[in-house]
Parts: sequence; C-alpha cells; structure tokens
Amino acid sequence: MAVPVAASLLCPLLLAVCWVVAAGTAAGEKILPSPSNLNYSFIHICTLNWTWNPPENISSGCNLEYSSDIVINGVPEDRREWSKSRFRVTDAHLNEEMRLRVRSECKNDNTSEPSSWVETSLLPKGIPGTAAVDLSCVWHNLEYMACTWRPGENASSDTNYTLFYWFDGLENPTKCSNSSVGQGIFECIFNFTFPKITSTYPPISILIRDDSEEIRPVCASKNPTTLVKPATPRQLTLSKTNDGIDVKWSESETFPKTCLRYEVIKYCNGDLDNGEIIPSEVNSVPVADIDANSKYTFKVRAKPKRECYNSDFHSDWSEEKSIGEKRDSTIYIVLIITIPLIVAVSTIILLVYLKRLKILILPPIPDPREILKRMFGDQNEDSQSPAKDDPMNAFDRLIIEEEINSLILTETSESTNPEKENR
Ligand SMILES: *[C@@H]1O[C@H](CO)[C@@H](O)[C@H](O)[C@H]1NC(C)=O
Ligand SMILES: *[C@@H]1O[C@H](CO)[C@@H](O)[C@H](O)[C@H]1NC(C)=O
Ligand SMILES: *[C@@H]1O[C@H](CO)[C@@H](O)[C@H](O)[C@H]1NC(C)=O
Ligand SMILES: *[C@@H]1O[C@H](CO)[C@@H](O)[C@H](O)[C@H]1NC(C)=O
Ligand SMILES: *[C@@H]1O[C@H](CO)[C@@H](O)[C@H](O)[C@H]1NC(C)=O
Ligand SMILES: *[C@@H]1O[C@H](CO)[C@@H](O)[C@H](O)[C@H]1NC(C)=O
Ligand SMILES: *[C@@H]1O[C@H](CO)[C@@H](O)[C@H](O)[C@H]1NC(C)=O
Ligand SMILES: *[C@@H]1O[C@H](CO)[C@@H](O)[C@H](O)[C@H]1NC(C)=O
Repeated sequence: MAVPVAASLLCPLLLAVCWVVAAGTAAGEKILPSPSNLNYSFIHICTLNWTWNPPENISSGCNLEYSSDIVINGVPEDRREWSKSRFRVTDAHLNEEMRLRVRSECKNDNTSEPSSWVETSLLPKGIPGTAAVDLSCVWHNLEYMACTWRPGENASSDTNYTLFYWFDGLENPTKCSNSSVGQGIFECIFNFTFPKITSTYPPISILIRDDSEEIRPVCASKNPTTLVKPATPRQLTLSKTNDGIDVKWSESETFPKTCLRYEVIKYCNGDLDNGEIIPSEVNSVPVADIDANSKYTFKVRAKPKRECYNSDFHSDWSEEKSIGEKRDSTIYIVLIITIPLIVAVSTIILLVYLKRLKILILPPIPDPREILKRMFGDQNEDSQSPAKDDPMNAFDRLIIEEEINSLILTETSESTNPEKENR
C-alpha cells in the first residue's frame, strides 16, 4: 500500500529535480559572460551616461548586444533597451534610488543564454522629504520659462533652493537668478528663446538643489512644447461694418503666424453667463447677426495649435471691449420704481380732489335740525336769501361759500367722529 503512494509522489519530484539539473548543466556551458566595469557619469545636470566594458571570451559567431533596464526604488521601469554601444544615456532621478542593470545577449543565437545582470546604483543624497516638490514650469510666449515649486515637508523654512537649467545649445548649466518666494511657493524666471524659424525645441533639464548637503536635490526633464502659453492678445479693437462688427487684435510677435488659434467670446447686453464662442485662425474675425439695439462685449484669448505645440495652456483673456447702443438698465430700474410712485401719488391727489369735487356737486344732506333752527330761530337772515340787487348778491355768494366751507368742516369732523356712526 505505501510503496505505490511513495512512488507516485517521488516520480514527479525526481523528474522535476532531474529536469532542473539537466537544464542547468546544459545551459551552464553556454551562459554568456557579463559586461564589466558598469559605472555612470553625469552629462550636464540631470543626465546620466551609464558605461560598461564588453564581456571577455565572446565567440566570434555571437552577434553581441547589451540589454539594459532601469530600476527606480527597486521597481523595474520596463524601459528595456537593446544596443550594441557600451553606454546608455538616461534622465537622473536624484531624489530616488536609481539602478541600471545590463547583461550581454547573443542575438539570433539560440545556443547561448544571456549573461546574468550586472547592476550599479545611484543613491539619493540628503534627508528624505527635503527635496523640492510640485515643480511646474510654463513657457510664456516662447520668451521665458517660469518655474514654481514648494519646499519638501522635511525642509527647514529658510531653505534656499536654487534652480539650474540646461538644454542642448546652452554651453553650461545655468543658475536661475530671478527668483522669488511668496506664500511658501518658490518661483524662478529665466529667458528661454530660440530663433523664430525654429520648429523643434530641445528638452530642458531642471535641477533644484540647495548648497546644504542635507537638502535632497531633484531633477526633471521637460519637453518645452508641452509648456507653451501664449501672451494675452492686446489692442482689441471693434469696428462697425455694413453687416456686423469686425473684431481685431494685434498679432503675436513671437509665434509663427500659423501656430496660434484664437477664441473670441461675444456677450450681448452684459449677459456674462451666455457668451458665444467664436473660433478664429487669424487675428481678426467678422461677427454678423448683430442687433442694432444691443450692446456687444468681446474678449479674446490665444491657444497654441496642436500642429506646432503639444500644449494645453491658453493665454489669459484679453481686456474687454464693447460696442453698440446700450439700453441703459439703470434707466429702466428708475422708470420701474418711479412710474408706480407717480401713479400712486397722483391717484391720492386725485382722490382727495375728487372728494372735494363730490362735495361741490353733491352737497351733503344738511342736518334738518340745523335747517329748522335756522328757519325759525333766525328769520331775518333767512328772508334775505333771494337775490335782489348786485351788492347783495355778492354778499350772499360770500355767505354761501362760507356755509359750504363750514359744511366741509362739519362733514370731515363728522366722518372722523365714531359716535356719529353709532347713532
Ligand atoms: C566610477 O567612475 C568614477 C568616476 O566617474 C570613479 O571614481 C569610480 O571609481 C568608478 N567606479 C567603478 C566601480 O569603476
Ligand atoms: C557616454 O560615455 C561613453 C564612454 O565614455 C562615450 O563614448 C559616449 O559618447 C558618452 N555618451 C554621451 C551621450 O556623452
Ligand atoms: C578567456 O579564455 C582564455 C583562454 O581562451 C582563458 O584563459 C580565460 O580565463 C578566459 N576568461 C574568462 C573570463 O573566461
Ligand atoms: C536553434 O534554432 C534552429 C533554427 O532556428 C533549430 O534548427 C535548432 O534546433 C535550434 N536549437 C536549439 C538548441 O534549440
Ligand atoms: C520626513 O522625515 C520623517 C522622519 O525622518 C520621515 O518619516 C518622513 O517619511 C519624511 N517625509 C518624507 C516625505 O520623506
Ligand atoms: C538662506 O540664505 C539666507 C541669507 O542668504 C541665510 O540667512 C540662511 O541661513 C540660508 N538658509 C539656509 C538653510 O542655509
Ligand atoms: C525678473 O522677473 C520679473 C518678473 O517676475 C521681470 O519683470 C524682470 O524683468 C526679470 N528680470 C530679469 C533680469 O530678467
Ligand atoms: C532676458 O531677455 C531680456 C530681453 O529679451 C533681457 O532684457 C533680460 O535682461 C534677459 N534676462 C536675463 C536674465 O538674461
């Protein structure tokens, strides 16, 4: 019972062991020797030249190539390259552990195994967390580069970071001297210009470090065409034409003519939420569909063209310019407030006036007691009422007017007297 079980367990095991040993010995004879003396040197600031010597005793039938790979902080970058030359140029990552490994291979030769890897590493200097972070650069108007960064979290607050830059065409790495610090953000600006006919730009290497050994340096390589930001368009002018408005602005002096496109925004009557975007390939655009009774406001910005630059930045918006008759909204507001006010006031005046008029047209019914009192108590005055001659008439009219006045008075006093209503 135990024998078959043991055999069934042993057989695959032995087979596996035998296979491994066979493979090892078979390949062992043909494993290539490794390259030697792997080392590196800096080219300018942020570029490394890794160099090595060829392996010895390579058979003449071997088509020798070197395979190399980069390992950052222990993680292979999978940037394998094969070459016949005995060096490889890479970007330097000064704030991370960087290793390069190389082995020799015979191409088109299945009789030999690649050599084992040889490695050399470049260890970061300084204290972890002191390197500058959040480095970003913008290439303004193809004229100057503006880079910003923040201090590392473990860097002391008075760290004096310095930016150095280099690109193909610059003899030596250059220190950026126009620097400033504000609200914990460092900025440095340096000239970065090329003849206008240039259409390809070299990558730019940027190194930020401090003279202190404790501050960890950091390197970055940037493709300038991804950082292009055009200048704000200037001299925006608007002119009325027969069938619309001509919007014009000054052409860029630094960009090739065909490398910018523009976005014009049209606002109608100050409605900033509903702008209409009008694209343009040149530095002017005709705008039709214009309402003569509206005010139009325009602003423009420039964008780099994809054919020239691989950049997503656009310029800032230009100043705004307006054209056209503006139906002044403040006048409307004043009218909206004053018209009802005038109507209300005049209504009140009219009502008061009407009341007086009503009294005149339809005199209030006199109090009978008053009439009786007048009729019987004051006969002398009453008998004189009908008009006989002119002076008397005038006198009578005065009296009648006085009576009316007194009636108005009694009427108003009566209306304000609640006791009268109760009776
Ligand atoms: C690597 O090169 C440097 C000089 O660039 C030299 O000082 C160093 O000894 C070299 N290392 C090896 C292992 O050859
Ligand atoms: C790198 O170093 C090797 C050996 O010194 C040299 O032949 C090669 O030109 C260097 N590469 C660059 C890009 O400088
Ligand atoms: C290269 O071959 C020679 C003889 O052909 C031998 O003496 C030498 O040890 C070999 N070197 C290596 C590194 O195998
Ligand atoms: C090597 O490749 C050739 C053809 O490409 C083939 O005939 C030969 O058997 C291969 N040898 C080994 C050891 O795989
Ligand atoms: C800052 O220093 C502390 C202590 O030395 C360390 O634990 C931390 O990881 C550092 N921060 C960074 C971002 O490396
Ligand atoms: C930075 O520079 C200032 C003046 O130049 C100096 O007082 C300060 O100590 C420096 N900071 C460091 C960390 O060296
Ligand atoms: C330094 O930068 C400012 C803008 O921040 C600029 O106005 C000034 O001209 C620059 N100075 C030099 C020497 O480039
Ligand atoms: C940058 O260029 C401008 C003119 O293009 C010049 O006035 C200025 O001095 C330059 N700045 C530096 C730091 O070279």
